[in-house]
This record gives sequence, structure tokens and C-alpha cells, in this order.
Amino acid sequence: MNIKPLTSALGAEITDIDLAVPMAEDDWATLYKAWLDHLVLVFPDQHLNPEQQIAFARRFGPLDDHHEDPTYRLPGYPEIYQIGNFIHNGEMAKTKDTGRKWHSDHSYTTRPTLISMLYCKKIPPVGGSTMFSSTYMAYDTLSEKMKSMLEGLEVVHDFRNFLSPSFFWKPKVKDFSSIKERFPPVVHPLVRTHPETGKKVLYMSEGNMSSIVDLTDDESRCLLDFLFMHAKRPEFTYRHFYKVNDLVFWDNRCVQHYATADYSHDANNPRHMFRLTVLGQRSGRLLEDLRIVEPVQTAAS
Ligand code: SIN
Repeated sequence: MNIKPLTSALGAEITDIDLAVPMAEDDWATLYKAWLDHLVLVFPDQHLNPEQQIAFARRFGPLDDHHEDPTYRLPGYPEIYQIGNFIHNGEMAKTKDTGRKWHSDHSYTTRPTLISMLYCKKIPPVGGSTMFSSTYMAYDTLSEKMKSMLEGLEVVHDFRNFLSPSFFWKPKVKDFSSIKERFPPVVHPLVRTHPETGKKVLYMSEGNMSSIVDLTDDESRCLLDFLFMHAKRPEFTYRHFYKVNDLVFWDNRCVQHYATADYSHDANNPRHMFRLTVLGQRSGRLLEDLRIVEPVQTAAS
């Protein structure tokens, strides 16, 4: 297997390997180390049927079966979720604008995604790229004073935050309260230690991060705005322009990503990805757990 780094921040292209066939243990160990070292791995020109894609992803851990949103499962393969501007049952898929803000997958839950894996089935002639940023580098490049200030802070991640309009994407949300019921806000530490590399990392998911626990609104806004700007500095990023049959996956514990709206949404030239999600460990807690219990009303004496 040949490993070629794509930037000094993150990303490596792996060639001379066929992911369709079961991998020997030493190749697996090399690939796994490359993933921990480079955070985003790109495998060009892979020819995988759904069973082979699932079998490969499953080596990393249990897979999501997308029971939360079964509409775009690949028929017969609940582990494969289809995203893009392809035609589904006679209409444009509602997954056409998935990921239009910087985020780390499912940070708004207490079981955030470990790995997200995209297998490119169709790509328009221009664009359709994904951007990635290393949040190890975002942490490492902070001043020592800032690092110690951030230590111990906790951030509220709220899916409703993701659904506010962005420059390109205008989600039409009718009922925010049912979203809150399905995805109640959660709290995660801002600075974490990556469980496998032992390195300190910022846990960033800009689109979902709504406030910092115990800071005033103004303090929280200022600090989040700084972190959002800092964590996506060009030096910390890699941008992948897909070719059909590219398989790309990344470590959501130390990477933020952004699905770039850099292509024409022409249904004749769709972007169509098969996405697989390797479930992560449970982490964080519901915001509700932090709420102060109202004092019990006592009868007036
Ligand atoms: C995602 O945000 O999970 C999808 C990224 C992409 O489609 O580029």
C-alpha cells in the first residue's frame, strides 16, 4: 500500500490496495495507523459492491442502520445512506444539501459518529467537494494562555442551530419544538484527549455549537466566534475534489468537515454518495442534566 500525504495538516491518499477483498492483519494495522496519523483517508478508484463497502467499514466498529431517517437507505442495505442531488422516487432527494456548515457528525447527540465514509457514485463535472479541517492543529496553534483558559469549558451542541439559514442553504423548518424533542441539546467538553492517540484536540462542530456553559451570552458569542474562525484557517484544511469510485473517510473526533455548494444543482449531473457511519462511543450528556431544579413552592405561612 502506498501512503501519500495530501497536506501537512491532514489527509492522505492510499493507493495499491483493493478494499473489496478482505485485508491481511498487517495491511489493516498499516491502514489503521495511517488513519490515526492523517485523519482523512482517500482511496481512489475502488470498485466495491454494497456488501464489500459494509464489510470494510464494519472492521472499524458497529454501523448506524439509519432507523432515524430510513427514506434514503439503499434498498436492502440499511447501513448505506444516500446523499446528494439525485432523483429519488421521482423527486429531488432531500439530502441534496447535507452538511452545508462546518460540523462533526452527530455532535448534537450523546453518541457522536466515529467515522463517516463517503463512496462517490456520481459527481458533477465541476465541484461537489468536501472540506476538512484538523482540530488537533486548531488546538496546537493556540497560545498557552488560551489553552489554559479553554481547559474545562463545556459547549452546548444543539441541532436547531444547524437549521438556521446559511449563505447558500435556507432550510425550511416548520416546527423547531419537535426537533428539540427528537434531539435535545447536549453538552460536550471543548478540549478533549483523543482516546487512541492521547493528543489534546478541540472538539469543534461549528454548525451545532450554540453556547458555552456558564459564560455570559456575550462572552460565549465572542469566544465561539474566535474558535469558529480559528478552527477553519486554510492551513488546517484539506479540500477533496471527488472522482467517481473515490472512497473517503475521516475521524470525527479530530476533524470538522463542510460539504461545499460549489456545483450546479443540475439533476442531470448529480452528486450521489453512499455514506456509511461507524458509531462512536457514548460521550457528553443532555443539557437538561445541568438545569437547576426549580425550588418547590411552599404554602404561604
Ligand atoms: C456530511 O456532512 O456528512 C456529508 C459531507 C459531504 O457530502 O461532502
